[in-house]
Amino acid sequence: MSSILRCPVCREPLLPSPSGYQCAALHSFDVARQGYVNLVLAQNKHSKEPGDDPEMVQSRRRFLDLGYYNPISDGINQATADVLSEFDRNSACSILDAGCGEGFYLARLKEALSQGSGPHLTMEYHGVDVSKFAVRFATQRDRSMGWFVASINDLPYLDASLDIVLNVFSPANIPEFARILKGNGSLIFVSPGPKHLNGLREIIYPVTREHGPPAITEKAKTLFAPATAKRITYPLELTNNREIMDLLAMTPYYWNIDRETQGKVATLDRLELDVDVEIRVFRKSGGDGATR
Ligand SMILES: C[S@@+](CC[C@H](N)C(=O)[O-])C[C@H]1O[C@@H](n2cnc3c(N)ncnc32)[C@H](O)[C@@H]1O
Ligand SMILES: [Zn+2]
Repeated sequence: MSSILRCPVCREPLLPSPSGYQCAALHSFDVARQGYVNLVLAQNKHSKEPGDDPEMVQSRRRFLDLGYYNPISDGINQATADVLSEFDRNSACSILDAGCGEGFYLARLKEALSQGSGPHLTMEYHGVDVSKFAVRFATQRDRSMGWFVASINDLPYLDASLDIVLNVFSPANIPEFARILKGNGSLIFVSPGPKHLNGLREIIYPVTREHGPPAITEKAKTLFAPATAKRITYPLELTNNREIMDLLAMTPYYWNIDRETQGKVATLDRLELDVDVEIRVFRKSGGDGATR
């Protein structure tokens, strides 16, 4: 049986076993009750519970399920469908959401692609996040996907094993993404645009600066070629404090603001803000189409 997974200990293929996964050297990893596999080795953990904590994951789940970010998800689905339109009919496609959080974007992607009119492809969906709390939540959305606790800095995939890597508002490791992508694979990179969350940012920072272009464009230069870029912008109005606090908990500002500013946000019942997001598709350089 072939596998795209790689053992985090010896880097050899990881194959399904009765209790989870095992490599030829008998390193084994059990499937947790909730349906995910933890592939982070204890000695590689930089903190006790890396990644988003349970409260942040719950806030993200509540906020995303309200549908305010559906246009972002729709944009990701369209960008993915465009990439897939180049695939041969009846071929296979493996896709990884690297830094998948609680699984919102990957679950909606699967739903959209299964209803779409694109080529008939055998899809394999994987989601990886370093937060076990996030991955636990993600399994609730769809247990049929491959959900793994792992770091984007040491992804548990063999070289040239995936067709598409999706990276949404999460840390990125460009050389690692290039390693696991096939020769003609695509990276779909989603990041805040210049005005993202203006309205909230003005409350947090007395002088608001626009987000600069993401460092990815420069970092990806030698390993990827830019293919397409799309910007999604729209106004958003939140009309209760729960939604505002949940949004705050989803942002990096949550960690950076002082108690006084946090108190200020905690009294808000209404907030008008901008959503501004960029979806960039990069094609791995040097691909010749032979691996699809
Ligand atoms: C801002 S959230 C985005 C989550 C999801 N993509 C979304 O947009 O809903 C960033 C995510 O990256 C995860 N993360 C942070 N460092 C990571 C790492 N080194 N490897 C994998 N995931 C990481 C966090 O646990 C968190 O779930
Ligand atoms: Zn092994």
